[in-house]
Amino acid sequence: MSVLFVCLGNICRSPLAEAALCCVAKEAGVAVRIDSAGTGDWHIDQPPDPRAQAAALKNGIDISGYRGRQVQVADFHAFQKIVAMDKSNLSNLRTLCPTGATAELSLLLDHVPGRGGQSVADPYYGDDSGFDTTWADVMAGAEGLMRKLAP
Ligand code: 4NP
Repeated sequence: MSVLFVCLGNICRSPLAEAALCCVAKEAGVAVRIDSAGTGDWHIDQPPDPRAQAAALKNGIDISGYRGRQVQVADFHAFQKIVAMDKSNLSNLRTLCPTGATAELSLLLDHVPGRGGQSVADPYYGDDSGFDTTWADVMAGAEGLMRKLAP
């Protein structure tokens, strides 16, 4: 099983989703290949936003070693699920998606009962508290995904 999380910059939401699913999968004892990427190219090779690093660390996960990368056409064959943080990311992914792609595209919150179709808000331009909301959203999404991966 393999999951790629995608947001815009790959420094706030998708690295936190990657960390949350790593945590949930480890606790469940389920092997999942997990990665994250951005649709944009501004933060390639950069570490996550310091506020995202702090939010993950508060929850026991060190993401300081993560590095930004941009989503690639090959990802649509390399991952079984590509999970977008918001509707704009999903729309960009649909545009990039090559013919014959095997990855299944979805929104993260589609995996949370009662929240289908909703976006994970972008915390980048807000204050630190936005990252706590992001963490709660990505953890709910990761738990919902895990129920589907390992029912
Ligand atoms: P992310 O947040 O998509 O959750 O990583 C953003 C990070 C950077 C920018 C926008 C959103 N930016 O414009 O640089």
